[in-house]
Amino acid sequence: MSDTGTDPRGAPIGVVRGNWGGIVGSIAVAGAAVFALRAVLVRDVTRPGLEFFPDMARGPAAQAQDRAATPTGFTDLPLPEGTVPRGALPFRYAATPADAERAGRELANPEAPGDADTLARGGVVYARMCSPCHGPGGEGDGGAVARGMLRPPSLSADRAKAMRDGQLFHLITLGQGNMAPLADRIAERDRWAVVLHVRAMQKGGSR
Ligand code: HEC
Repeated sequence: MSDTGTDPRGAPIGVVRGNWGGIVGSIAVAGAAVFALRAVLVRDVTRPGLEFFPDMARGPAAQAQDRAATPTGFTDLPLPEGTVPRGALPFRYAATPADAERAGRELANPEAPGDADTLARGGVVYARMCSPCHGPGGEGDGGAVARGMLRPPSLSADRAKAMRDGQLFHLITLGQGNMAPLADRIAERDRWAVVLHVRAMQKGGSR
């Protein structure tokens, strides 16, 4: 034992022996402890809080359709087999022309055609998810086509105009011919919203 010594509970007993160095040391340690505790406990809303394991709280930011360290190498992953995304109902149609027509007969757009918010949303989804191929006005002149992607037919042609809403929804959901299915990438409500946008485009109301 040193000559300051400790009592059985570990507290310095230098004070009793008039050990000023010990007193100053104790005050310094207590001050440091209070400062450290304050840093942890007192919230300063003008600064980000202290993070101990930031890697666990936030992953690296990755944009949709980015390359990423996933099994496929991209951020967008196919749905695991047998799973249903939240907010989506099972879609009981096959990717066949007959079922596309059946969807046209059986499904109606649940979104109101006059709803400005839904139409605006449909425009955003179209700009992001369709216009790279179909072009801003649906004429098949998107940027991807300029870079060699197969040119899709005009969305204002009679063929697309004659498709019923349910068939368009089927086509976006399961694809058609050379167009890939987009169900994994566009939420169900957004698919209906984009159908509204295509209809507005076909009427020449939106470009
Ligand atoms: C990667 C390019 C690409 C993207 C993205 C894409 N399409 Fe297509 N789309 C095509 C191609 C190519 C065809 C022609 C498919 C075929 O019949 O072989 C097509 C066909 C269509 C048709 C049928 C046209 C017809 O006359 O048969 C519609 C309607 C359509 N797309 C709507 C959409 C909508 C709405 C979106 C966005 C939600 C979209 N497409 C996204 C490439 C694309």
